[in-house]
Amino acid sequence: MEIKPLDNDTIFAEVCCIGGNRNLDMKSELTEQERTALRSVQIKLEWLKKMIPKGLSAKIAYEGEEAVGFIEYMPIEHSNFHKGKDLYIINCMIAPHTPPWEEPQEQRIPGCGSALVQAMIENVKDKCKGIVTPFGFAYTEDMKDFFNKFGFEEFENEGLKMLIKRFEPVEIPSPIRYEQKYQFRQVPGKVVIDIFWSSKCPADPYTLLNLRDVCKEFGEGVVINGFCVDDRETLVKYGIESGTYVNGKFPWSTYGPLEKKEIREVLTNTLKANNSK
Ligand SMILES: CC(C)(COP(=O)(O)OP(=O)(O)OC[C@H]1O[C@@H](n2cnc3c(N)ncnc32)[C@H](O)[C@@H]1OP(=O)(O)O)[C@@H](O)C(=O)NCCC(=O)NCCS
Repeated sequence: MEIKPLDNDTIFAEVCCIGGNRNLDMKSELTEQERTALRSVQIKLEWLKKMIPKGLSAKIAYEGEEAVGFIEYMPIEHSNFHKGKDLYIINCMIAPHTPPWEEPQEQRIPGCGSALVQAMIENVKDKCKGIVTPFGFAYTEDMKDFFNKFGFEEFENEGLKMLIKRFEPVEIPSPIRYEQKYQFRQVPGKVVIDIFWSSKCPADPYTLLNLRDVCKEFGEGVVINGFCVDDRETLVKYGIESGTYVNGKFPWSTYGPLEKKEIREVLTNTLKANNSK
């Protein structure tokens, strides 16, 4: 296994490197889902390119030619959700494990996660006073014991619970909270979808693209409003971090990426309910 820096040769692998999307760019034939995933990683790619000059970086793990994991981090000053300085924050990380959707089950590469964290520490230790991270990410929500092995400790500040690894004394960050101001605006005779999405993880654009495609199938009966929350102004205006609302309600059983099938089901039922009023 080799850990490579984020550069022109590895950037595409970084954005593709989640679960089922892994190494999409290397596949010769793509399924419909993979084509949508590829469109969504392009959106993340654009965001990443904007963030790199601001200090965002990453390390990518390779097994031979194949990218198998990554860790992405940036100066906390660019986080929309934390007040802090002289710290880096881990945006996301992944090493081979078994996410729920993957068939056949993926083989762990013992030591991969550790190698990524150590490479990140080496990269930032002279650029900041410490690193903070959430307790875990999407499918491994509790990574506290994993991060403890590298000297990360738990802290709580104004309700913000995270882990910190200090290189020198540093003020712990506090949360930025947004007041929820979003109000559903009805359009008579139509189903209205409001999606709040960010480019930070390809999962959100994946839902956005699926929603747009399915809305086209439904024609004029459905209206879609997309709100990109990459910048703070939109967060301040609406106070919603992410989520897809249908007629002002959250009808999904998951906060994860939405597939076309479940979108069609919800829209069909909502249109039926609208028509029977
Ligand atoms: C957590 C994760 C990074 C661990 O990767 P890994 O390659 O298995 O890590 P390592 O092999 O380097 O593990 C180092 C040690 O931590 C332990 N460890 C691994 N995952 C752990 C966890 N979740 N909690 C506690 N300990 C853990 C290992 O057993 C190992 O212990 P040892 O030193 O006693 O042998 C990996 O499981 C992962 O990426 N999970 C998914 C994260 C995710 O959902 N990301 C977002 C996707 S969108």
